[in-house]
Order: sequence, then C-alpha cells, then structure tokens
Amino acid sequence: MLPHSRLFPALPFTAPLNAEHIRTALSTAGQRTLAHLVCHQQLDSTNTELLRQAAAGAPSATVCLAEYQTAGRGRRGRKWVSPFGNLYLSLLWRYSLPPAALGGMSLVVGVITAEVLQALGAQHLSLKWPNDLLWQKKKLAGLLLEVSAKSSTASTLIIGIGINVLTSTIENSTIDQPWTALNQVLTEQTVDRNLLAARLLDALFLALTDYEHTGLAPFLDRWRVFDQWQGQRVQLRCGEQQIIGIHAGIANDGALRLNTANGLQQFHAGEVSLRSITTDEYHRDILIKSTNDI
Ligand code: BTN
Repeated sequence: MLPHSRLFPALPFTAPLNAEHIRTALSTAGQRTLAHLVCHQQLDSTNTELLRQAAAGAPSATVCLAEYQTAGRGRRGRKWVSPFGNLYLSLLWRYSLPPAALGGMSLVVGVITAEVLQALGAQHLSLKWPNDLLWQKKKLAGLLLEVSAKSSTASTLIIGIGINVLTSTIENSTIDQPWTALNQVLTEQTVDRNLLAARLLDALFLALTDYEHTGLAPFLDRWRVFDQWQGQRVQLRCGEQQIIGIHAGIANDGALRLNTANGLQQFHAGEVSLRSITTDEYHRDILIKSTNDI
C-alpha cells in the first residue's frame, strides 16, 4: 500500500480543503441554510456520492467536496479529469417543483459561478451556452447538473462544479479541449479553495432559493453579461447532427437561438455543444446545405 503522503501529496499552492474553514467563511444566512458538508480526500465522483446520499434521504443543502476524483464525470457521459489541486464540489438541493421547471437551472449555476470568480478578481470570463465557463476561450470550469424526481412536484437537483485551479497538476493529463486554470487567470494571488467554496455556496443558496419564486427571468440579463458568442458563426452538435448558424443569443426559457439556413431555430440544454467556426467553414457548410436542399 502507498504511504499517505504519496497518495495525498502536499499541494504547494493551495491549502487543503477543510470543512470547518468553509463553514466559518459562509455568511450567517449560508451557515443557517447548510445542512451537511464533508470534504473527502478521495471519491469516485462528488456528484455520484450525492446521488447515493440523496437516495438514502439526505436533506437539501447537503454538500460534498473531494481533493481527488477517481471517476469524475462531465456532461454527455464524458470523463472529467480530476487530479489534486482543483475544486470538485457538489450540492444537493430539493425542490417542490417538477423537473421540467428546472430547465433554466443550468444557466443559473453558470452565471453564479462566473459572478463569484469575477468578484474574487477573475476578469474576461465568458459563458459558452449552456454553462461552460471560459477564460480567453479556454475552459476554466465545467458544471454537471443532474435532476431526478419521485413525484411531479418534488425534484432532487445535484449540482456538480469543477473548477481548474492549478495548471501544474493538470499538465500531464489528457484533456480533449483547450483549458486553463485559476492560477493563470489570477496571477497576483493564490487561490484559497475553502474561501472559493464558501463564496460559491453562499451565492448558490441565494440563487436556488430565489429560482423557486422567480424562475429564470432575473438571471437572463446576468447571464448575457458573460455571453461573448452572440453574433458569431457557430456549429452546434446534436448527437450525430451538426448545425451551422449565427448565434442569436438565448431565449427567455434559456434555449439557444440560432439563425440557420432554415431560419431561426431554438435548442435546449442537454445534448448540444457549441464551437466557433471560421468564415470559410461557415460558407462551405451553408453551400453544402443549400446544394442538399435542392
Ligand atoms: C463538463 O463536462 O463540463 C462538466 C464537468 C463537471 C465536473 C464536476 S467536478 C465535481 C462534480 N463531480 C463530478 O463527477 N462532476 C462534477
């Protein structure tokens, strides 16, 4: 068996996660809302852990974090590479709403994460629909929301947030897209992950409570502040299908609006990904499309 120090190496730039430090850094309202918070050295996935806890009856506002995930999960069945040094946080929230009413939640959590990082000094952040958080077009954080329901009026939401904090720990990992980490964004300061977790939880508790009464509406303009894709040519992948169009912003229900060769179309979160394309790619695709249409 490996010694503890090899399994859980001391991290040079970031203090270990500490449940007590996170609790103390929460606002008074946050401390009142929080039900349980546990920091693990290692887990398969913080989301998977909360799925297990939810099935066993854990209350709303149960939180878990891990220093390291052996089976971190990303959107659309992808793996989330999870070495030491980053932030892996999940929050369980119970709603008296049907799952269909939580469609906009993915955008809400995206905007909250962006605002929290901005308040800690991160500038030039952008959100790529539905909720990838980017810095200079490189992925800084990813969000995985999982909803389940026992009845039509009771939903359980698990929010998983993965924020890249240290590039040094990710460097040798295989990640299939451009990525960055907070130590490149906040070059003047070291990142206190306990404080970051507390700020995220405080802001999420407020937003999740508000959402039950207001829905997505008050979050839309806040989301648009971080939208750098509107007006750009983009390609959307829906399973095997690829759709080219001009990004026309987000609709009031959080859907992505795309001006395509077939007119304005709307797409909902879940199975689509988005990437910007060059003018050449755009014209080539439109040309192929119109030839096929004839
Ligand atoms: C994405 O594909 O962009 C979403 C990545 C979400 C990763 C986070 S890390 C904490 C939580 N636990 C997981 O297994 N996944 C989420």
